[in-house]
Amino acid sequence: MIITYNQYSFFNFYKMNITQQGRIKSIIAELYHDAKNDYLRMMKGVAKSIFRPMQPADFKDAYLAISQEQGEGLVKLVTAKKSKNIVEFGTSFGISTLFLAQGAIETGGSIITTELIASKAQKAIENFKKAGVNDLIELRTGDAMQTLKNYNKPIDLLLLDGWKDLYLPLFQMLEPNYHANTIIYVDNADMAESRTFLNVVNQNSKYQLDYKYHGKVVLIMVK
Ligand SMILES: C[S@@+](CC[C@H](N)C(=O)[O-])C[C@H]1O[C@@H](n2cnc3c(N)ncnc32)[C@H](O)[C@@H]1O
Repeated sequence: MIITYNQYSFFNFYKMNITQQGRIKSIIAELYHDAKNDYLRMMKGVAKSIFRPMQPADFKDAYLAISQEQGEGLVKLVTAKKSKNIVEFGTSFGISTLFLAQGAIETGGSIITTELIASKAQKAIENFKKAGVNDLIELRTGDAMQTLKNYNKPIDLLLLDGWKDLYLPLFQMLEPNYHANTIIYVDNADMAESRTFLNVVNQNSKYQLDYKYHGKVVLIMVK
């Protein structure tokens, strides 16, 4: 059988893609393995905040990651919607960002993600490098309200997974960048502050809410 140059390039691209996806999956598996102790880390954070409001720094060692099922669902969502411009609020150590990267490889997209705690951001960058996807991801360290302030490109997918009191102001700040095909993925939608946020969004006829994972996640669609 004679293989044409085009077929050869396609096979090479396909092989590279499979290898790349495998590398990301293995880093995700390592991170989930380490995240098994998250319960203890979270308890430490909760203990610190007994006499004052909780702060992100109390959870500097905790992953607080989305579930594997959610991650795999995110990959499908990115590929099905052909999302290219992806923005994430709340990187932590980068588990969800790596799932987004799996999708972005398929769509030719890229990700801007943002994390308040510098030590977490540093660790996330190391994880992106290990997974070989650092060139697809721009991590902005600092408060999302500042790091995404001048964001002015269309957003195809926005993942909200940071502190819940910022969901509404951040959603409103980024609103000029939404278009008819934009999806806003709201994690921890069942928490009290998220519900208040979703009630506000629901009053606007421009948006449609779709509940997933027994209400843990809401997808906001722009009509
Ligand atoms: C639930 S965790 C994110 C988990 C991550 N999406 C995953 O699934 O792997 C929330 C993260 O948001 C970060 N965060 C909280 N407030 C923030 C802010 N104002 N700007 C940026 N990041 C913030 C926290 O430090 C924490 O690491």
